[in-house]
Amino acid sequence: MTLLDTVITGGTVVTASDVSRADIGIRDGKVVLIGSELPAAKEEIDATGLYVLPGGIDSHVHIAQPGEPGVVMADDFESATRSAVCGGHTTVLPFCLQAKGQSLHDAVRWYHGLAEGNCFTDVSFHLILTDPTPQVLGQELPGLVADGYTSIKVFMTYEGMKLSDREILETLEGAKSSGALCMVHAENDDIIEYLRDRAADRGDTAPKFHATTRPVTAEREATHRAISLAEVIDVPIVIVHVSNRDAMEEIQAGRRRGSKVFGETCPQYLVLTRDDLDLEGFDGAKYVCSPPPRDTASQAACWDGLRTGVFDLYSSDHCPYRFEDRQGKKRPAGLKSFRWVPNGIPGVETSLPILFSEGVSKGRIDITRFVALTSTNHAKLYGLYPRKGTIAVGSDADITLWDPSRQEVLRQDILHHGADYTPYEGLEVTGWPVRTILRGKTVMRDGELLVDKGIGRHQKRAVHGERLE
Ligand code: URP
Ligand code: ZN
Ligand code: ZN
Repeated sequence: MTLLDTVITGGTVVTASDVSRADIGIRDGKVVLIGSELPAAKEEIDATGLYVLPGGIDSHVHIAQPGEPGVVMADDFESATRSAVCGGHTTVLPFCLQAKGQSLHDAVRWYHGLAEGNCFTDVSFHLILTDPTPQVLGQELPGLVADGYTSIKVFMTYEGMKLSDREILETLEGAKSSGALCMVHAENDDIIEYLRDRAADRGDTAPKFHATTRPVTAEREATHRAISLAEVIDVPIVIVHVSNRDAMEEIQAGRRRGSKVFGETCPQYLVLTRDDLDLEGFDGAKYVCSPPPRDTASQAACWDGLRTGVFDLYSSDHCPYRFEDRQGKKRPAGLKSFRWVPNGIPGVETSLPILFSEGVSKGRIDITRFVALTSTNHAKLYGLYPRKGTIAVGSDADITLWDPSRQEVLRQDILHHGADYTPYEGLEVTGWPVRTILRGKTVMRDGELLVDKGIGRHQKRAVHGERLE
């Protein structure tokens, strides 16, 4: 047998189903042996005392996404994927936003141009549909799905992005016939616009009013409606960034009726609350994201959902804007009213430590569930499994070595993103990614990048429900 390239020894290997003491043999970027007393390798990595985990997959990140005029996202593909790999991820799924009137192919080409040669993780795009014309749904989407772009996102809110119910039905129909899996941002836009207008009448402009004008009711109603629309077409959907129990109950009710509904939650709904938007001066803008963080009862509900399976996915919804920046949170219009503050917060580097520390270290979820929620389920749902999302013979050697006892304090100055703050400043965590290996190559060790950008590759995906060989 040819020499192994790398052997990882002495660690505890975890998958979504098992925990075992085993060594891992890697050749040509793939896992080729799992066992004990493996043959010699050119490189030996001692993982004694560490968990050997499938590399994290974050299937909900926004990178270099154009927004309102004058607003610029804090991360390009280099900084976002640098941050992701330092946080223990080996693959991210950003969004490719179709502008109104734009062809999907043009949008895809543009994002590839931004990503190519710049990534530290593997990358695969979801398509955001803002203009689902017959041409887009009937011609472009089937071709792109066949090329491995097998998921789309639709919005029920945000001016310029939201679709009507009719458009969502037509999009779901297109998704069904092409095989694309549809993610839905579920908030009732009319409720939000009405409440914002009333807030404006009262002169309520501070960041905290972002939370009160996007209530649970708006999320619950839209979640119910999205699931109902999917039932009409009889197609699976993913409800993303779920923040509270009412919306979770809609997912459960849909499943009881036989619908195939998947659920995702994010760190901001586990460790932040609306009180974070109510800080001195303008500081609450650092926490403006949608849906907004809720209350401690909602946090507890989301933990229940992660434990019991209401949620299949845990993602960051990384959507970073700089705070001290006229093109970010402090854009002139945003300083006048919360309504114009860019929505979104950074989180791709901190999401895994938060879930591990608050979840595994504190006994809320076990380590196999952690792996399912942060890697395996993303790969299975979005068509990357079993190339990604597990540690098995034949899989890509995407591996994160995790020190379960290392203590850190989340602080802006240890992070690698392009934002100038973290919403989790000061949060103490136990458990930390100490080495990230992408297709057999160590990309990050102890917070240091060991390879040049450009190692990350685009990943074609299978359609939902099919395996990628
Ligand atoms: O506030 C958020 N979440 N911004 C990102 C866009 C989205 O809705 O996912
Ligand atoms: Zn969204
Ligand atoms: Zn998002």
